[in-house]
Amino acid sequence: MSTARVSEGIRDACQELILDDKKIGEIMTRFLKEIQLGLKKETHAKADIKCFVTYVQDLPNGKERGKFLALDLGGTNFRVLLIHLKGDDDFEMQSKIYAIPQSIMLGSGSQLFDHIAECLANFIKEHKLQDERLPLGFTFSFPLKQLGLTKGFLIRWTKGFNCEGVVDHDVVELLEEALKRRGDVQIEICAVLNDTTGTLMSCGWKNHDCRIGVIVGTGSNACYVERVENAELYDGPDNGKSHVLINTEWGAFGDNGALDFIRTEYDREMDEFSINKGKQTVEKMISGMYMGELVRLALVRFTKAGLLFGGQGSDLLFKRYQFFTKYVSEIEGDSPGSFFNCYDVLEELGIFHATDEDCANIRYICECISSRAAHLSSAGIATLINKMNEPSVTVGVDGSVYRFHPRFHDLMMEKIRTLVHDHISFDIMLSEDGSGRGAALVAAVASRDAQ
Ligand code: GLC
Repeated sequence: MSTARVSEGIRDACQELILDDKKIGEIMTRFLKEIQLGLKKETHAKADIKCFVTYVQDLPNGKERGKFLALDLGGTNFRVLLIHLKGDDDFEMQSKIYAIPQSIMLGSGSQLFDHIAECLANFIKEHKLQDERLPLGFTFSFPLKQLGLTKGFLIRWTKGFNCEGVVDHDVVELLEEALKRRGDVQIEICAVLNDTTGTLMSCGWKNHDCRIGVIVGTGSNACYVERVENAELYDGPDNGKSHVLINTEWGAFGDNGALDFIRTEYDREMDEFSINKGKQTVEKMISGMYMGELVRLALVRFTKAGLLFGGQGSDLLFKRYQFFTKYVSEIEGDSPGSFFNCYDVLEELGIFHATDEDCANIRYICECISSRAAHLSSAGIATLINKMNEPSVTVGVDGSVYRFHPRFHDLMMEKIRTLVHDHISFDIMLSEDGSGRGAALVAAVASRDAQ
């Protein structure tokens, strides 16, 4: 059992990463303001948090039935799924993961959609579904301006994607065209949805007071249930429904400078070298695509200042994106007084000369950066909970950071408790497979409605 402690120099330098109550209060005020700007017709164009209308208006009741296909694009992998909802909370699912090579993520839109169509066609053939015309839910986890459940125009690419010729186009139409070019599969696209919408639906299937869906994975975002009269961009039929799901796209919060007061040199450098400079400011402070790199930038700075590793790093440590986000979870997963995982990670980085004190410092840096991410997500979630002002709310959450980081759930529970109004009770739960099962549920609810 090691007694090594965090050094004063590191503790002081990490102070800027800690969000105290005053800062969180300010973040929540600014967050709410952006949400309101996003919802209003007049101010929507200049709002950072766009609050897109999803046209999903019914939550599932657990009785949905039928076979559905789903496509899931937008995380680390692309997946095709076949989901059989059997009613009464029962379902079966088969899925296949397909790689999307970087050349496609950064290539042309038609290449991307041809690739998706090809994977879908192969899946259909493998499962001998050629003769069925199955409804399909398309989970497309990027900012979409929707004009209906099956019409969504891409506003910007986020995460690692940047395919030419897709922004401002209807992605459902692009997929249909790609399928038409092949001509070998029959499907009916019933809905296009965001992964946060799927997460909310998937959680709401069993948990009838689920009102928020959150992703803390490769990217970060939330959707929530809003009253139709507040969603000024809603221009669907007057169908007597009182609520609609809003995809906030909160990842863009801070793009106008609203978070400059908490950004650090690591955030600025991260942004400078990213493929979407100046965009997705808060996403770059929260999500898994960036968390490891933020830690690496801090480690580099402290190594150069002689505060870590006796001033001596390694080639890998100085190489961008070589400190993976999973390392943060591993290092923080070490039991107190042990640095077993930490030494393993350092060896992977080619650092063999670290001491216990280095490890204590590294763990502290990881904790500061992951806690900041958890607290920023908490500020967003608490703002939405207070805004909805329901007596009891469940928040469905998914994504690799939430799933695998050892303290993320507890950090969020603890912080949100201090931020929501006293009369509101809330719970946070893992929402399993929103992008798959959630997509089937959106398609199911949509086809229930159509009937
Ligand atoms: C990015 C996308 C958003 C998605 C989130 C989580 O922020 O823009 O649509 O929900 O990542 O995958």
